[in-house]
Order: sequence, then structure tokens, then C-alpha cells
Amino acid sequence: MDSAENTEPSAAANVSLHCKEIALAAGVPAELRAMLSAACLVHHHPPTDVKGPFVPILDTIHHGAKERGSWPAKLAEILEIANSLDEQLSLAEGDEHPIERAFEEMSYMDYDPALTALLPIMRRANRRDVLATIPLLPVFPALATRAIALLGSADSDFREVQRVAGHEQVLSGELLRTANSAVYGSRRPATSIEEALTRLGTEPASRIITAAALRPVLGGKGLTGLWEHALAAAETAEKLARLSGKVRPHEAFLAGLVHDVGRLAIALLPDSAQAARRRLAASGCDPIVLEQVLIGMDHAEAGAEILDFWKFPEPVITGVWHHHRIERHSSCLAAVLYLTEYLTQSSEDLPDQSRLDLARATLGVSAGVPGLVYE
Ligand SMILES: [Fe+2]
Ligand SMILES: [Fe+2]
Repeated sequence: MDSAENTEPSAAANVSLHCKEIALAAGVPAELRAMLSAACLVHHHPPTDVKGPFVPILDTIHHGAKERGSWPAKLAEILEIANSLDEQLSLAEGDEHPIERAFEEMSYMDYDPALTALLPIMRRANRRDVLATIPLLPVFPALATRAIALLGSADSDFREVQRVAGHEQVLSGELLRTANSAVYGSRRPATSIEEALTRLGTEPASRIITAAALRPVLGGKGLTGLWEHALAAAETAEKLARLSGKVRPHEAFLAGLVHDVGRLAIALLPDSAQAARRRLAASGCDPIVLEQVLIGMDHAEAGAEILDFWKFPEPVITGVWHHHRIERHSSCLAAVLYLTEYLTQSSEDLPDQSRLDLARATLGVSAGVPGLVYE
């Protein structure tokens, strides 16, 4: 997210995205589609203020001038449908299935039914396709389940942590590496798990083990930067949880690690959906809107489905599900994750002032949140 005020370019990009898709589905020739794209950028201006071959489109929008069936009339109607769709998607954001609601509302409007009938063609995949990817995801290792249980147990003692870590070379190595890092600076390096745990403490050690156990699941050949973002989010979410006192820190840490796991499922969708997603993302479309339009669900909802399949704790599933649309649920963890996305400068969503305010009010964090610079 760049800045809270910077909403206009992406809103225009969303309309442009809808225009392109509808025009493509309606069989509009390439040269007219290029004209439509140009008209998209300036369609709020009166035709007298701009110059270009697209002016007849703006004339039709502003004066309803051209006869039905002419190319300016058809392109103008596509542009108006795209505008309405964008508005309807914003209005339906609080709805559980915004895209279905938006399409339904559009069907009641006085547009050419042959054009509005094309809207569902924009869907390149559906919920069933997303659910079908879950068995294709990396197997959730038993070790990770044990590490998560360790993280959640308030009375986990030294020996328990040692038992989980000692079974796996990667985890032991991670503990030793961290214990011997500059942060814990000691002249004599720790050479055993016992020494590493003494130096780190059981709680930080549990977090290190959980992250290391989840890495093969989230940090494989998936999406570039997903694992780095997950680690940064886990740290930030935990800090916010401690600051607010309304969310258990270990739960926030875990939720931060897995909050975008739905992006893995979306990355496994069929090629046609991937191609459309890449093309539309390149044109600057807001990723959450893009996911809704192409699939009918966003990565947050897809992630909740995956975590449910993996039998994660209910509060983590709920928090992840609503982490981009926090007005739909009172989950404090969702509010933590929303602020986390903002603070870690995730580019998954447009920053929204009212949601930032809602998250802040839900958590009771006003001043003093490091990096909270949107005020
Ligand atoms: Fe996200
Ligand atoms: Fe994220």
C-alpha cells in the first residue's frame, strides 16, 4: 500500500480492467478497444476539455447523442457498464459474495442485456477451482502441527521445546543460528540445543521453531516474496497484538505467518486464469478486486478454506478470512492483520482510510504504533 490518499489511479485502473474484459468478450476490434482504453482515462471530463479520436464516446456519455448501434454508442455503453460494475463492487464489499451481488444488481439496470450477459465471462475460475487446489498444496507436516501447539501452550517448558526441536536438524540448526547471532551476542557460541534454548528463552524459541516448520509449506516454489512478507507480517502482527492487549500474541504471530496462504491456491489455478490475472495485474488493477472479479473470492477467503482444511484454530481462520474486509466481522485478529498489511507495505489492496480507522478503533491503538504514518 502506498499512501492512504492515492486511491484514484487504481480506481481508474479497475474501470479500465472491466472495460477491456467486456470489450474483449463482446468482440470489439483491437483498434476500438484501444480507443475505449483512452476514453476510460478521461471519461469524467467533458468532451470539450479533451481532444482525440475517442471524443465521440465521451459525447455519447455526456449528451446521449449517438444513435443506438453505432460504435461510439456501443463503446460508451461498455464504459458505463464498467463504471457501474466498479460502483456496485464497492457497494457490495460488505457482502459475503460481493461479485454475485454486484452482477445481480447489474442485471436490474437498463443496459443492453447482450452486454451485461457477458459479465460472468470475466470469471476465469470459481470457488470449486480454488478448493480443488488445496490437495495440491505442500503437505502440512506433523512437525508444524506440533510446533504450533507448542506456540499456543502457555506452560510449554524447556523440555517440551527441546523434544520438538531436537527431532529435526533444520529446526535445531535454526535455533543454534539465532542463539549465536549478533542479537544474542555472546563470546562463546552455543553448541547444543540446551544452550541455545537457555540463551533464547522458551517463548522466542517456540516462534523460531514454528516459523522454521512452516517455511517448507509457505516458502517453497510459490510466489516471490511471499515468505519474506509472511515473516515481516508475523513480527508486526505480534507487536500490534501486544500493544492492543486484545489479541493473544502467539495467535497474531501464527496468523501473520499464514495470512496470505490463499495466494498459493490462487497461483495454482488453471493457466487461463493465471494469464488473465497477470495481464490485469500488469494494467494496475487492485489485486483484491481482480481476485473477486476473476474467481469470485479473494485470497483471504481462499486462505481461510486452506487453514480450515489444515485444522487451524478457529480465531486464526476467522481473522485471515476477513483480513482485507474487516468491516464484515468483529474479529480483533482481522483488525491486527489489516493494520499489518498496511505497516508491511503490502501491495495487495488499496489503503482505505475508513478501514484503517476501524482497525485502530477496534484495537484501541491510536498513537504510538510504530510506522503508523497515515494520519
Ligand atoms: Fe492479504
Ligand atoms: Fe499480506
